[in-house]
Amino acid sequence: MSTERTENAPAVGLSPDPQWWRQAAVYQIYPRSFADADGNGIGDLRGITERVPYLRELGVDAVWLSPFYPSDLADGGYDVADYRDVDPKIGTLEDFDAMVEALHAAGIRLIVDIVPNHTSDQHAWFQEALAAGPGSPARDRYIFRDGQGPDGAEPPADWTSIFGGPAWTRVQDGQWYLHSFAPEQPDLNWDNPEVRADFLTTLRFWSDRGVDGFRIDVAHGLAKDLPDQLPTQAQLDEMPIDGTHPLWDRDEVHEIYAEWRKVFDSYDPPRTAVAEAWVEADRRPAYASPKGLGQAFNFDLLSAHFDARSFEDIVSFNTDLAARSGSSSTWVLSNHDVVRHATRYGLPEVPGRTDKETGVAWILSGGTEPQLDAERGLRRARAATLFELALPGSAYLYQGEELGLHEVADIPDEDRQDPTFFRSPGVDKGRDGCRVPLPWTREGSSFGFGPDGAHLPQPQWFGRYAVEAEEADEDSTLSLYRRALAARRELQGAEELEWIETGDAQVLAFARPGGWVCVTNFSDQPVRLPEALAGEVVLGSAAASSSGTVPAEATLWLRH
Ligand code: NOJ
Repeated sequence: MSTERTENAPAVGLSPDPQWWRQAAVYQIYPRSFADADGNGIGDLRGITERVPYLRELGVDAVWLSPFYPSDLADGGYDVADYRDVDPKIGTLEDFDAMVEALHAAGIRLIVDIVPNHTSDQHAWFQEALAAGPGSPARDRYIFRDGQGPDGAEPPADWTSIFGGPAWTRVQDGQWYLHSFAPEQPDLNWDNPEVRADFLTTLRFWSDRGVDGFRIDVAHGLAKDLPDQLPTQAQLDEMPIDGTHPLWDRDEVHEIYAEWRKVFDSYDPPRTAVAEAWVEADRRPAYASPKGLGQAFNFDLLSAHFDARSFEDIVSFNTDLAARSGSSSTWVLSNHDVVRHATRYGLPEVPGRTDKETGVAWILSGGTEPQLDAERGLRRARAATLFELALPGSAYLYQGEELGLHEVADIPDEDRQDPTFFRSPGVDKGRDGCRVPLPWTREGSSFGFGPDGAHLPQPQWFGRYAVEAEEADEDSTLSLYRRALAARRELQGAEELEWIETGDAQVLAFARPGGWVCVTNFSDQPVRLPEALAGEVVLGSAAASSSGTVPAEATLWLRH
């Protein structure tokens, strides 16, 4: 595998620009599935360090590292047992420092995941709360309640957790605790001053170790207001999520982030943050405000069909929204929670359903119904990615999408790990299919992921998508990403975008400063490039059969 530096790679060392995040290409690493250096079947930090040359050659500006903290892996690491350490299964703090050093030397920033809504049930605080008993200060760090009914054997409310099943679990002395996700993920009580203070310590701990930014998990869930008489699930479902809902997106959550901002701004350059907040679009700017986290994920493209009108509306709406918050836009097509976009786009459209929903239905059927057109899915994914990378703002890329990887749908039930599978139970196949360890070589043990197997089974077809195979192929998806990320560096001037009328509802075109034009043909037929757009083709997601045309379901980048 080539590790040489090419013209794609960023200059050595970090850019001094404190606004580096505004238009960054950020590569998400799900550490347990990226590269396994020690051979225990689980990806690790040394594995990442060894692959820094790969990341550099890919040309990304930053890495977002999903949780790497000590964890029993009830939810793939989003159940954190200690916020200021590394899981021994994947390394040590020294490995972490070495990884930061290698990334920074390669000009790549590091964003780490912070999971503040809940801890693991293995966290020292939760263990202490169990031992300390009802009414204790240790219980006050979480959300404990007495049950209903004469002996308290009924839960305090009939709430359903996001992963399915009840949201309240009973402990030995009879009390119940709230978990919005799995029972192994008790929700913290953010009215407790110790909880607040401890997360400030955590933010400083990682910032002091050189971390450049934070991705905030379930950022809209921390502030809660639970009355003595709890509403029912049906009543909760009826309540508007407008700042007053007892559980989600409460206005007071921003007081927490204002405190965090003071910590971020005490560093030079200021640490950045991006909110994972599934909220109404008009409530995103509050999370993205420079007085708060500074940026918020927008999952609109990820939730949409591969469709010209939807893409145009989403881009117009979100660029305006970001400008109003003082932040930059964010774009996401894939992450560790959804069916990979190459697969979503290869499934037949179902009226009234988004591609995301169709993808979920496909996973539910074990990848049989409806039929996947893998080639078409990849063709559209490449077009969507080039569209995304031409937009102003940050693009968040998920490991493996640069290889054009498809979802693995047919993981045997006994190998599945995702709590959504166990809690549905078995009905929702869950998110393991996008978390299968990456293929690095065409053949061999775990396709080069590590010396001794992989923690989720990899299908035979993974070899075709291996880094080794794609590096050798100019037309591969990896080669396309490398070229696009290199060219994108020249695009990163002003955050402006101007739509160009194409006269065809299936063709979108927009101009960026510096004479750049991006054209996407969403139809399944090639179209003539409108006269007004003629220019030098710098890059295409598919090869044009004749000059002056845009291939079917393809994006071209032109320069005038
Ligand atoms: C969102 C994360 O992306 C997901 O993977 C996790 O299961 C939940 N938050 C709970 O932490």
